[in-house]
Amino acid sequence: MSYECILTEVRGEGARKTGLITLNRPKQLNALNGQLMDELGAALLAFEADEGIGCIVITGSEKAFAAGADIAAMATLGYMEAYTGGFITRNWETIRQVRKPVIAAVAGFALGGGNELAMMCDIILAADTAKFGQPEIKLGTIPGAGGTQRLPRAVGKAKAMELLLTGRMMGAEEAERAGLVARVVPAASLLDEALAVAAQINELSGPSLMMIKECVNEAYESGLSTGVRTERHMFQSLFGTEDQREGMAAFLEKRKPAFRHR
Ligand code: HXC
Repeated sequence: MSYECILTEVRGEGARKTGLITLNRPKQLNALNGQLMDELGAALLAFEADEGIGCIVITGSEKAFAAGADIAAMATLGYMEAYTGGFITRNWETIRQVRKPVIAAVAGFALGGGNELAMMCDIILAADTAKFGQPEIKLGTIPGAGGTQRLPRAVGKAKAMELLLTGRMMGAEEAERAGLVARVVPAASLLDEALAVAAQINELSGPSLMMIKECVNEAYESGLSTGVRTERHMFQSLFGTEDQREGMAAFLEKRKPAFRHR
């Protein structure tokens, strides 16, 4: 399928490869409009369905991962249009249907919906040029794709409140200290680093990766005892997989495991 607002590629060498999605509206700093969100959703679901893909990387340009939802497309919306249709409601959470690991490789601005999109990914790797923020308050509005919910979970209430109530941006180092991003890397090596992390993940057992995602997301969304119980059940269920036999046998035989994702 061909897209206009994103680019898709398959990268990597191994049995399972990486699906790379590049947001591509450079003149608008990758502002997220309906078409881009539709294309992103379709590309994510296509990589999800492709058994040859282990892991997905979403990236933007040097200047912007995404500078938020497209303000020009939102400026004149009325309540009914915002509520019933259009890009405000469409496809923002498709990424949550993806059970394979998704890495956001962020350089430049990740603002508003751009930061919300990054936070929906499983791992955020940041270039040293990255700037994160939720500037909606400066537009007389608030985040609409999870910013008030995921940011406090990522960085704690005090910093989230400060960022949300002032709209200020924070740099990559601060974002790493605060716990929003996994790691900061030099801008020139951002994509290579993200693809290297993806390549590592591609070697690992698909079902176990999915279960880790499910458990960690449950840690976000439920209480401790429910999450621990889910984790225990998932852990036990993996003793029904070939990959568990292979992984443990390989360790005992001092060799590399060859996972078959079942
Ligand atoms: C539409 C945008 C845009 C956006 C930038 N542009 N951000 N267009 N929507 N979110 C456009 C500019 O209008 C400009 O177009 C071009 O991109 C370059 O931007 P400049 O402002 O000239 O660049 P710069 O001076 O470097 O400033 C970069 C910036 C600034 C700090 C990122 O552009 C900015 O503040 N953008 C808005 C950020 C924002 O408020 N995001 C939250 C949106 S609300 P022209 O044609 O003039 O060259 C949101 C809600 C999500 O995200 C809800 C989800 C459901």
